[in-house]
Amino acid sequence: MTNAAAPEPKANMGAPVPRYDARLKVTGAARYPADELAANPAYAVLVTSAIAKGRISGFDLDAARAVPGLLDILTYENTSGLKQTKFADGAATSIQQLGPDIQHNGQIIAVVVADSFEAANEAAGEVNVDYASEKPAATFGAVGLVEEDATRVSPMHKHLPAAGDAIAAIDGADVTIDVEYGTPTQHHNPIELFSTTCVWTGDNLTVYEPSQFVYGLKNGVAARLNIPPEKVRVVSRFVGGAFGSKGAMTPRMALIALAAKRLNRPVKLVATRAQGFTVSTYRAETQHRIRLGARRDGRIVGYNHEGREISSRPDPYVVAGVEDSAQLYAFGAVTTKVNVVHADRGTPGYMRSPPVVPYIYALESAMDEMAAKLGIDPVEFRRINDTAASAIENKPYSSRSLMKCYDQAAAAFGWKSRNPTPGAMRDGDWLIGLGCATALYPSHTGAAAARVQLMANGDVRVQTAAHEIGNGVYTVLGQMAAERLAVGLAAVTVEVGDSGLPPAPVAGGSNTTASTCNAVMKACDAIRAKLFHAATTANDAPLAGRNPRDLKLQDGKIVADNGQEKLADVFRRLGVGSIEEYAEFIPAGLAPDSIQRLYAGKVAMTGGPQGEKVMYAQGAEFVEVRVHALTREIRVPRVVGAFAAGRLMNTRTVHSQLMGGMIWGISSALHEATAIDPRYARYVNDNLADYAVPVNADIKDVEVILVPETDRDVNPAGIKGLGELANVGTAAAVANAVYHATGKRLRQLPIRIEDLLTA
Ligand code: MOS
Repeated sequence: MTNAAAPEPKANMGAPVPRYDARLKVTGAARYPADELAANPAYAVLVTSAIAKGRISGFDLDAARAVPGLLDILTYENTSGLKQTKFADGAATSIQQLGPDIQHNGQIIAVVVADSFEAANEAAGEVNVDYASEKPAATFGAVGLVEEDATRVSPMHKHLPAAGDAIAAIDGADVTIDVEYGTPTQHHNPIELFSTTCVWTGDNLTVYEPSQFVYGLKNGVAARLNIPPEKVRVVSRFVGGAFGSKGAMTPRMALIALAAKRLNRPVKLVATRAQGFTVSTYRAETQHRIRLGARRDGRIVGYNHEGREISSRPDPYVVAGVEDSAQLYAFGAVTTKVNVVHADRGTPGYMRSPPVVPYIYALESAMDEMAAKLGIDPVEFRRINDTAASAIENKPYSSRSLMKCYDQAAAAFGWKSRNPTPGAMRDGDWLIGLGCATALYPSHTGAAAARVQLMANGDVRVQTAAHEIGNGVYTVLGQMAAERLAVGLAAVTVEVGDSGLPPAPVAGGSNTTASTCNAVMKACDAIRAKLFHAATTANDAPLAGRNPRDLKLQDGKIVADNGQEKLADVFRRLGVGSIEEYAEFIPAGLAPDSIQRLYAGKVAMTGGPQGEKVMYAQGAEFVEVRVHALTREIRVPRVVGAFAAGRLMNTRTVHSQLMGGMIWGISSALHEATAIDPRYARYVNDNLADYAVPVNADIKDVEVILVPETDRDVNPAGIKGLGELANVGTAAAVANAVYHATGKRLRQLPIRIEDLLTA
């Protein structure tokens, strides 16, 4: 892919250059996985379970088989050769079999393949299934849930944060609160639907599937098919929205590969919007109990947070966001607990800022409640409890700019003019509420490999199997290479999204920019070292005998204080047309075999609370809400967020990420929720007409302030991720503003008109 649209000179790190792939995307030239052409494809359509719990007692496939063009039908009876992979070992769910046991509504039970999409769709409608159905437990409050302590069953959350005896500290505190909060089910609805296309060439398989981790898919599908991973290539050059839904291996992938193998023909599947609600993962509903104790002067002395999260029957998926919330303030004593609550549902999964969205919503709401009870301004309450070190093990923050964010956002927002009394600010029939909350996201860095090639004519090629999920990875990798090799951005070609390239980590945990930019920087610096060595060691060279450290690259030349040599001459002397370097970057604290693990499709990532210092991107968000005094209509005319996240590679893409994050936060506060029919454990609003999201009329002024921050500990390039920062805290800020407007404290999201009419 070339980049004809990029402007020439200003390519350096941090510059707000337009996206490398902007023109390709707006002209439709960007090929998403479902756009990849396969010759003579057959079309697959999924059949999903109409019950949530029970067993398939029989299929009648005669009518389906009679549809002209029908090629094959896969059910549990002819797919038992597929190996089972384990949850959390690359797979999003351990519910992978087509039956006969049914573990959730909408579970895939058959794949119908035909010559045309229309024939496949018709035949899928003719598949008749007999079920022996049992009564399911849908969600909190249902009969038949099984509840377990997450530390006993979750391999990822064996230890939760603790410091001292928080309950005793709270019991002895001057002022206490003891409150419960809830967050709803949310479903992934990326514009790009969930698709898989599989093509076999002999015993080599190519999979086109939108992915946040092509190496994970490659190894995972190979394991399910019981073939060597080197026989599999996964291609995903662009992803039309992912947010966590495309990070792990999906149940459909191996089925489509098997169908293509059986037919000896490419097979393409695009699941429907409604099927996306059950064949992919979702954000599970959560419940929280928070107890806080504080002294009269505002110092918190104890924080106790107990979370409950819904999961499927077999899988112990939890996000356990207390691991992050417990680091946030000078809490004194901390105790935490998380329970996984098994229901007859699909396995939940990552959704933008998975741990912090529900847990920081609960904590930041409780902080507002405590500030109100103490009679202390909410910003000042956070300042009193600001800290340079975590309350857990007293580990220092690698950098902390939280109060700088508060001060800059508060000034821009006009927080000073707030009358603290709830219901006291009014504009005609509109009650005005002003609220704020903290945004927090763990800074992750992963092991990554990259190949960079510098041509004698100054062209550069960058290759790494990173993922363009809207994070702008094409752009920032281009910027990094352009700066380190002193070329214009238009000279740089970037290739990502292909497991044939050196491996990059899963595009999750907001680590992509940090991880891949560090790998590309390392490869570029190896090229520089080779060039400088060649320029200083050849006897007849103009820079012979100079110290390589005194050299720099500039305008196609190697330059010293007095003297220079053209790059083209160095290449000529070396007798090569290009210099290519492959680099492996392993962040401090990760095992030396992290790159081998990455090749094998295993995530190797560090950061957040894990190292000797705690590493977090931070922000402060301020929201104005207007609640109509009579109708209780809720509007959000203004949001201001200030954010600090170390080095920013591109202030334009950063601005977009943060703005989009706050808009999602408003959605979480006031719009989004999946409705579940408790009788059938079935999603009711599984379409974009009934699944409420904000439209342009719901979003007015959104202001983003970038607070400069230098962090020398997170990684050599100093980059903290921020793709998942800004949608954290917004919901609490909105809820706190609704309280300020109305005096009503609503603790279950989303907050809707009817809640304000009845509360
Ligand atoms: Mo993101 S939810 O960490 O893929």
